[in-house]
Parts: sequence; structure tokens; C-alpha cells
Amino acid sequence: MSGSPVSSDVVWHESDVPRAERWRASGVHGATVWLTGLSGSGKSTIASALTASLVAQGVLSYSLDGDNLRHGLNGDLGFSADDRAENVRRVGEVARLCADAGLVVCVPLISPYRAGRAHARAIHEASGLVFLETFVDAPLALCEDRDPKGLYRRARAGEVTGFTGVDDPYEAPDQPDLVLATAELTPPRAAAMIVEALRARGVVA
Ligand code: ADX
Repeated sequence: MSGSPVSSDVVWHESDVPRAERWRASGVHGATVWLTGLSGSGKSTIASALTASLVAQGVLSYSLDGDNLRHGLNGDLGFSADDRAENVRRVGEVARLCADAGLVVCVPLISPYRAGRAHARAIHEASGLVFLETFVDAPLALCEDRDPKGLYRRARAGEVTGFTGVDDPYEAPDQPDLVLATAELTPPRAAAMIVEALRARGVVA
């Protein structure tokens, strides 16, 4: 599991304990469930339902929520294209580490650009880790109607600029592993569909 450091003097240190041995000893199987979609599409709600469902089955799971990470790790980032790309890059790296450690990580993040999501997938696949790109697909009109944080209203009023779906782009996935049409699905049903996809990939029993 390696990337490219700025300095060639930085050398990757391989773990003495192989992943398979660590996972077997702990009875875990790591993977990343990446939830992409508009603000208000239901990503965080599904991540909560999924985490609850997995924990109830005895599967260690954790959510790396975009809003929450922006309170700490990504607190220095705004919503310019560069900052969003950096946000997605960092969360992709953290997710990969968590998955390698054995967690089933949920990543509810708008992650609006295909290139960033493709990179997150690539680093997981290069590490032999399951990456389930899940498109939380809700029409913009429905997200605006829900407007749980009042941000769409403020974006339409010009008080928030560069808001995804209003005056900033969202690039829907071309070939997601899973599509969840949240206009028609309850959060528990959406979570169950993800669990089924994880089962099909041998992540959960
Ligand atoms: S991402 O585009 O970089 O992936 P991320 O998922 O971390 O976004 O954060 C999105 C959350 O930030 C939204 O749920 C919303 O609450 C808040 N937010 C504040 N400003 C914006 C904006 N300009 N565009 C999108 N979301 C915003």
C-alpha cells in the first residue's frame, strides 16, 4: 500500500503483520462504502442506518462524514474546486487506512467530481480493498425541498455561493456499483441494499 511522497527520502514501511493475519485474528474484513450525492440526498442518514445495521450484526463500522471531518481534519478547506478535490483526496486516504485496519467505513461525502472519486477507488483497488461507489440519487428539486440545513434557500438567495447543484457542478457517477434512489427508498431499505452488495463481495457473512 504505497503512494508518492514529495521527497524520495521518505520510505514506505511495510507492516510486519500481513493484513489477512490481522483481519483473521480480529475477525474483521475491511471495506469502504463511498456515498456520493447532492447535499440533502440522504447520504448521512443512510450512513447512520448502515452503521447501525452492521454494528447490530457484529461488524465494526464507522462513518467518515464530510460535515464532521470539516470540523477537524478538513477544517482548513472551503468549497472551491481545489479545496473539494483536497477534501476528497484526504478522506479517500483516511478511508483506505481505516479499511486496511479492518473497518467497514462509510464515507458520506458530496464528492462532486468524477476524477476525485476515481482516484479514491484506484488507491483502494491498488491496495486490494473493496470500494463500493454508491450513488445516492435524489433529484435536485427533492433535495431543495428537504433543505435540512436551509443552505439551498440561502444559495438561491445568493447568501451562499458555489453551492453544489445550484451554482457549482455535480458530476453523477457513470458506472456506480450501486444506485440508491432515495425518493423511493427508506433508509433501512437502502442500508439493507448496501449490506447485500457487501455480502456479494464477501465483506460480511
Ligand atoms: S465536498 O464537495 O467537498 O465533498 P462535503 O461533503 O465535504 O463536500 O461537505 C458538504 C456539506 O457542507 C454539505 O452537506 C453542506 O452542509 C455544507 N456546505 C456548505 N457550503 C457548501 C457548498 N458551497 N457546497 C456544498 N455544500 C456546502
